[in-house]
Amino acid sequence: MIFTVAIDGPAAAGKGTISRAVAAHFGFAHLDTGLLYRAVGAKGGDPVAAAEGLTEDDLTRDDLRTLAAGQAASKVAVIPEVRAALVVFQRQFARRAGGAVLDGRDIGTVICPEAEVKLYVTASAEVRAHRRWLEVGGDEGQVLAEVIERDKRDAERATAPLRPAADALLLDTSEMTVTEAVDRAIKAVLAVRG
Ligand code: DC
Repeated sequence: MIFTVAIDGPAAAGKGTISRAVAAHFGFAHLDTGLLYRAVGAKGGDPVAAAEGLTEDDLTRDDLRTLAAGQAASKVAVIPEVRAALVVFQRQFARRAGGAVLDGRDIGTVICPEAEVKLYVTASAEVRAHRRWLEVGGDEGQVLAEVIERDKRDAERATAPLRPAADALLLDTSEMTVTEAVDRAIKAVLAVRG
């Protein structure tokens, strides 16, 4: 069975938590596509060569979750050749037997426009920064500034900018608990898959 769930949205909106929960609920595989861009940014050197030569090992580095790695990812993600080098891997993952959940910025719009279910998960910048700050600590104002900077870069780039697909279900998690957000996402999949 091929069944793709595309989950897009800005940084720290809850995509990762929702994607993992949906994948676990339905027994689907999950790919956090942000990790691909984080790994490219973390490799250093020529980002296009880094993207073309990306291996599974690059994705398991333990420094990929930092704010700095997120910023570096957002910077290499504006380069069309970097994005192009990562398309085939993502599309193959999406079509693997047994179903797949991919989360990112352009899954519903560019990588898997034919996905059976598309969700666009968002929340206010303040709520997202607060959640990220609870994870990483430091100065909350600085975390907010970085979230806003990254949103702007991701949304304004020319190639595959962050935006909801026309047929995506919008899920604003600002006022939702994790359980509520996950329930809504699971219901959206059930509505299509039964
Ligand atoms: O989801 P994340 O915070 O791990 O993503 C890190 C950066 O990678 C994000 O700011 C932009 C880029 N990215 C992208 O351009 N396209 C994706 N599908 C996923 C991430």
